[in-house]
Amino acid sequence: DVWEKFHQENIKIDLGSDQTSLHNPWAGGYYPVGLTFEEANRMMADNPAQFKEEVHASLRRQADAINKHADRGTYFFDYGNAFLLEASRAGADVMSADGLTFKYPSYVQDIMGPLFFDYGFGPFRWVCTSGKPEDLEMTDLIACEVLEKLINSSPEDVRSQMADNIQWIKGAKQNKLVVGSQARILYADAIGRIKIAEAFNKAIADGKISGPVVLGRDHHDVSGTDSPFRETSNIYDGSSFTADMAIQNVIGDSFRGATWVSIHNGGGVGWGEVINGGFGMLLDGSKEADKRLKNMLFWDVNNGISRRSWARNEAAVKAISRAMLENPNLKVTLPHLVDENLFGNLL
Ligand SMILES: NC(=O)c1ccc[n+]([C@@H]2O[C@H](COP(=O)([O-])OP(=O)(O)OC[C@H]3O[C@@H](n4cnc5c(N)ncnc54)[C@H](O)[C@@H]3O)[C@@H](O)[C@H]2O)c1
Repeated sequence: DVWEKFHQENIKIDLGSDQTSLHNPWAGGYYPVGLTFEEANRMMADNPAQFKEEVHASLRRQADAINKHADRGTYFFDYGNAFLLEASRAGADVMSADGLTFKYPSYVQDIMGPLFFDYGFGPFRWVCTSGKPEDLEMTDLIACEVLEKLINSSPEDVRSQMADNIQWIKGAKQNKLVVGSQARILYADAIGRIKIAEAFNKAIADGKISGPVVLGRDHHDVSGTDSPFRETSNIYDGSSFTADMAIQNVIGDSFRGATWVSIHNGGGVGWGEVINGGFGMLLDGSKEADKRLKNMLFWDVNNGISRRSWARNEAAVKAISRAMLENPNLKVTLPHLVDENLFGNLL
């Protein structure tokens, strides 16, 4: 309704997306146009086939309205909720001329992938098991100190990211982001994650943090996820449609010292559309934890960058080359880039 109304009223939208829960289209994630909330809930239960048709028809109508806005200059992008996927399944006009790709960009494919994941930046997490706000505050200070040191030796193309992350962690307490456990998320790359974890472990040993800290990460990250419609959508070597990397990531993490690992189906984009691998790692201030964190975090992030590099993502080739320089024991095959003109002439 909103897209259509804005079009009728000639209201220009500069930037647009859809944020309905389309990873779950048949059970309340998307309410089709023309039905009240109650009618839709009844139909979902009593006549699911009809409900599916209503959702499909609504998606086609919505895509038509979006296309009209796009013709007037709206930049529309997929928010990662499977809008383009479900609209395409409904037969809506969202495909490019090649019939293989969507005509609109997706926020991972065009924004997060090249800017963050290819460099190894992702949502690194920690939880202070003491439950004390002062411990979280100490971890914020430590993480900030580590990043402020690292930024000076970082390559030019990641400095603005580092600066953003420093700003984020500086404002984290003041912005009251904690809703339950004393936990934090901070975007960091492989080196950042390792150095921060190392510093936490030392602070626990020195008694500056009063209890163990558990590390983890989101599945919305460089590694551990096979998600062809979101996190791995810009891996163009075809491996985005396999579910191997999440498994490899988890096996590697478990042998390299994770406290636990997990494999999930469906997180964020829907059951059957994604496999996610995750880990938890306990830091207790011990020497063993120090060894484990270096071993495991290094693998956890670089495993994902390697794959992105094999797919010839430019920033990932740079990032993995940098990782190999820093750790001569790491040997990752680099892709051979073919001169597209030469290749074209051959055909
Ligand atoms: N990109 C990301 O990083 C990211 C992060 C979180 C969630 N997601 C995805 O985004 C989607 C939304 O997540 P959420 O947590 O906001 O979900 P939510 O269920 O809290 O919100 C969805 C909203 O859409 C509304 N809605 C349903 N059908 C509608 C329609 N036809 N027209 C207008 N509004 C309608 C619902 O009333 C609800 O308020 C999910 O699919 C989720 O997986 C993406």
